[in-house]
Amino acid sequence: MADVKLAIIYYSSTGTIHGMAQRLQEAGEKAGADVRLRQVPELAPAEAIASNAAWSKHFDRTKDEPKATADDVVWADAVLFGTPTRYGNVTSQLKQFLDTLGPQWAQGQLADKVYAGFTASMTAHGGQESTLLALYNTIYHFGGIVVAPGYTDPLKFADGNPYGVSHVTGPANDAPLTPVEDAALTHLAQRVVTIAGRLLPSH
Ligand SMILES: Cc1cc2nc3c(=O)[nH]c(=O)nc-3n(C[C@H](O)[C@H](O)[C@H](O)COP(=O)(O)O)c2cc1C
Repeated sequence: MADVKLAIIYYSSTGTIHGMAQRLQEAGEKAGADVRLRQVPELAPAEAIASNAAWSKHFDRTKDEPKATADDVVWADAVLFGTPTRYGNVTSQLKQFLDTLGPQWAQGQLADKVYAGFTASMTAHGGQESTLLALYNTIYHFGGIVVAPGYTDPLKFADGNPYGVSHVTGPANDAPLTPVEDAALTHLAQRVVTIAGRLLPSH
C-alpha cells in the first residue's frame, strides 16, 4: 500500500507551534507517512515583529523554511493545521493561507481528506478549544473529514482536549511541552495517518 501523505501546515510567532509541528512530523514519519512540514508566510509588519524579542528571534531563525502552497494540501491525504490562539481564534496568517485556497476548493480538491488541528495559548484553556472549532469551520466547507482525537486512547484523559492537541505556554510564553502533550501529539499523528490510510483507494 502507498504511504499516506501527511502535510503539517502551521503558523508560529514565537516557536511553540513550530515545536509542536516538528514533533508531529517525527511521529507522522514513525507512523509510516510521507510528511511535508510547511510554514505559512508571516504577514505582520516588521515593526510588530521587532517589538517582541522572541518573535524576532523565531522569525529570523525560520524565515527560510519551506512555505506552504496550495499544492501541499492538494497533495496530502491528511492535513494537520497548527495555529497559536488569537483571542480564541485562528491567526490571520493561517487564515490568509486558507483564504488563498478558493480555486482548489472550487474544484473539489480539498474534499475527502482527513484534517485535524493543534494550537497553543498563554493561559490555561485560553481559547484553545474555540480556536480549534473555528479552524474546523473551514474544514467543513472543504468537505474535509475532521478526525478529532476524541478520547480514543486512555492518554487523552490526561491532556483532556478531544478537539485536537494544545499546549499552555504560561506567563513567560516559554513553558516546554509536557510528556502528556508529547504523547497526545504522537497519538494525533498516528490517528490521522491510520484513518487516512483506510481511505486510500488501494485499501
Ligand atoms: C494578539 C494575540 C492574542 C492572543 N490571544 C490569546 C488568548 O486569547 N488567550 C491566550 O491564552 N493566549 C493568547 N495569546 C498568546 C498566544 O496564543 C501564545 O503566545 C501562542 O500560543 C504561542 O505560540 P507560538 O510560540 O507558536 O507563537 C495571544 C497572543 C497574541 C499576540
